[in-house]
Amino acid sequence: MSRLRSIVRTFGPAVEVVGTEEYRPARPGPGEVAVRMLLAAVNPSDLVTISGAYASRTVLPFVPGFEGVGVVEETGPDVRDLRPGQRVLPLGSAGAWQQTKVTDGRWCLPVRPELSDEQAATAYINPLTAHLMVRQHVVAAGAELVVVNAAASTIGRMLIRMLNRAGIRPIAVVRHPRGLAALAGAGLTAAVCTADRAAGEAVRELTGGRGADVVLDAVGGAEGAELGRALATGGALVHYGLLSGRPLPADLPAARPDVRLVLFRLRDWVHRVHTTDPDRLTEALAEVYELVLDGTAASQVAGVYPLSAVRRALLRDAEPGRPGKVLLRLTG
Ligand SMILES: NC(=O)c1ccc[n+]([C@@H]2O[C@H](COP(=O)([O-])OP(=O)(O)OC[C@H]3O[C@@H](n4cnc5c(N)ncnc54)[C@H](OP(=O)(O)O)[C@@H]3O)[C@@H](O)[C@H]2O)c1
Repeated sequence: MSRLRSIVRTFGPAVEVVGTEEYRPARPGPGEVAVRMLLAAVNPSDLVTISGAYASRTVLPFVPGFEGVGVVEETGPDVRDLRPGQRVLPLGSAGAWQQTKVTDGRWCLPVRPELSDEQAATAYINPLTAHLMVRQHVVAAGAELVVVNAAASTIGRMLIRMLNRAGIRPIAVVRHPRGLAALAGAGLTAAVCTADRAAGEAVRELTGGRGADVVLDAVGGAEGAELGRALATGGALVHYGLLSGRPLPADLPAARPDVRLVLFRLRDWVHRVHTTDPDRLTEALAEVYELVLDGTAASQVAGVYPLSAVRRALLRDAEPGRPGKVLLRLTG
């Protein structure tokens, strides 16, 4: 039976290069599973991949989408742990933006029944990243003075709630006054808008001149570096995103040899533990499901679009101030 999928044939801006086409999914081979996708998220990592930033490891044409939920439709030979009708997150590869994803059964992680499809479709990338960063780089380090950059983003808000659970009221940094409004009521020491004042100077002042223990930065460029310079001796700049489109300046380590620069990429952690100790991934996802269900790792949804309207979805995603995630509906 013919199905619909999104397709990228040339790298470029997502709104320009993502198209759709009909296709006939392959039957699952040994160890494989055909997953009928229900909902998929649009994430910055999808847009970056579509732009060609990872061209060396992305083969054209490809179906984008690193996050989504679906139902097992058919299992291939040698698949014992999954059964048709089971809801799963098919992780570990792109391809969520299509109606049927045929993939390695070992990468299909079961979803708790209490999660709605919307919760499940957004339960992986941001929640697991935030959970791991807080656990590994804040709680384990005994950090107290924490800065969250791009704090009004979906993951920024999750980080704030996770830090609050750990007894920490972070300093939030946003680029626009609408971010301050979006964070009203959040458990913060202070919220700083970089349109009003320099973030580094504000952090030094708010920490009594001491500097921060940890900066969680998804912006990069000059602003990420400025926050890195506002760390206390022994502090850590945990850099996990490039919303500015610019890398951290190369001279940052020389300027602050007394702080640590940590590059966090969920993909690296997930692929490493999946190879060495897959139970750790299952356990971490179970922890994250709990946090999604109690609201700590919940994502707001800004809009749900049918796959046939993928460009409209991507235009919505590109709107500044969009309150939450854009999702693609893959059924119907
Ligand atoms: N390393 C990893 O493994 C990993 C995993 C998950 C997420 N991330 C990264 O986390 C970041 C946020 O992801 P998300 O899903 O939470 O994004 P999102 O919900 O789509 O939100 C994007 C946010 O970024 C803000 N923003 C855009 N450009 C900015 C800039 N130049 N400076 C400051 N803020 C800017 C927007 O602010 P406005 O409201 O003003 O428009 C918006 O709040 C992305 O860079 C993503 O790649 C990385």
